[in-house]
Amino acid sequence: MSHPTGPVWDAICGISRFAALSTMAELGCADELADGPLGAEELAVRCGAHAPSLRRVMRELASMGIVRSVGADSFELTEHGRTMRSDVPDSVRSAVRMIAEGGFWYAMGNLPETVRQGRSAFVEKHGHLYEYLAANPDSSRTFDDYMTARATPFASAVAERYDFSQVATMVDVAGGKGHILAEVLRAHPGTRGVLFDMEHVVGGAVEYFAAQGLAERCEVVAGDFFGEIPQNADAYLLASILHNWDDNDSVRILRNIREAISEDGRLLILEMVLPDEDVPHIGKDVDMRMLAIFDGGAERTRAEYAALLEKAGFTLNQVIPLTAGASLVEALPA
Ligand SMILES: C[S@@+](CC[C@H](N)C(=O)[O-])C[C@H]1O[C@@H](n2cnc3c(N)ncnc32)[C@H](O)[C@@H]1O
Repeated sequence: MSHPTGPVWDAICGISRFAALSTMAELGCADELADGPLGAEELAVRCGAHAPSLRRVMRELASMGIVRSVGADSFELTEHGRTMRSDVPDSVRSAVRMIAEGGFWYAMGNLPETVRQGRSAFVEKHGHLYEYLAANPDSSRTFDDYMTARATPFASAVAERYDFSQVATMVDVAGGKGHILAEVLRAHPGTRGVLFDMEHVVGGAVEYFAAQGLAERCEVVAGDFFGEIPQNADAYLLASILHNWDDNDSVRILRNIREAISEDGRLLILEMVLPDEDVPHIGKDVDMRMLAIFDGGAERTRAEYAALLEKAGFTLNQVIPLTAGASLVEALPA
């Protein structure tokens, strides 16, 4: 057997590293380490874990730079480990928990079957992700927290990089809990917002906007983007939506927006736009999850977005690179 290095072994060992990280997230170890180093025994007591097992997990996490050893048998958080706390603004704990969640894990484990059949093994077992989440409130909460954590860097990038001076009203179509819209409204006092998402998702959004002093500038509407969506706004945002749907459903959503949008409006699509070259890109990793979880969901290239938009009556105007692999695709009514 060849020496265990290179991309194949990186991927194999990556599973062990992820399992250690998800154990840390699930047991809440980072929250317990928030005030400083703890011995393995004490940490195990606080996390409700078996000390000898947890010590081995901490050793793996120390090798990854998530914690560091202090003395013979204690550990403290590094800067990367700090983001595994629940109470920090840049927390990634929910992201780790969601990737390890039962349905997501099943989806990735069954990717070979999905690829063999050309149909998601997850959908076959659980139905569409959003039906699965509606039926599993704990997973749904973790998913919403994950989306918030994932969208936080995107939200500030959209608010900073896009020119909202001509945008009087923006509808955030399937905007989740409203975190991106809130960031845009905070940064652009001349813009009003409409948060649009499914009934079970928008609960609490009114209070969320009110707590940020945005209640007067933001309306919350529950609905279905395959049905009627709020009309006549001059901007519509679709953030991390189209990658969940196949081309036919994506065109249905886009056509609905085309019917609603004012003639001089603009559509903003926040997605990972894949490079055409054979280079590493986080969007290609996310695409494996889309392949596993959704029938036809996919990350797309610029040319693929241009083709979808054209079918729905839009023209791709520009692609603005944001951060962490995401871009903002601006489209105008054709
Ligand atoms: C991947 S999340 C993206 C949330 C948010 N735009 C963001 O970037 O964080 C997809 C969102 O689509 C919403 N959604 C799914 N199906 C929908 C439908 N038929 N009508 C309206 N919203 C829907 C979900 O509730 C969820 O909030």
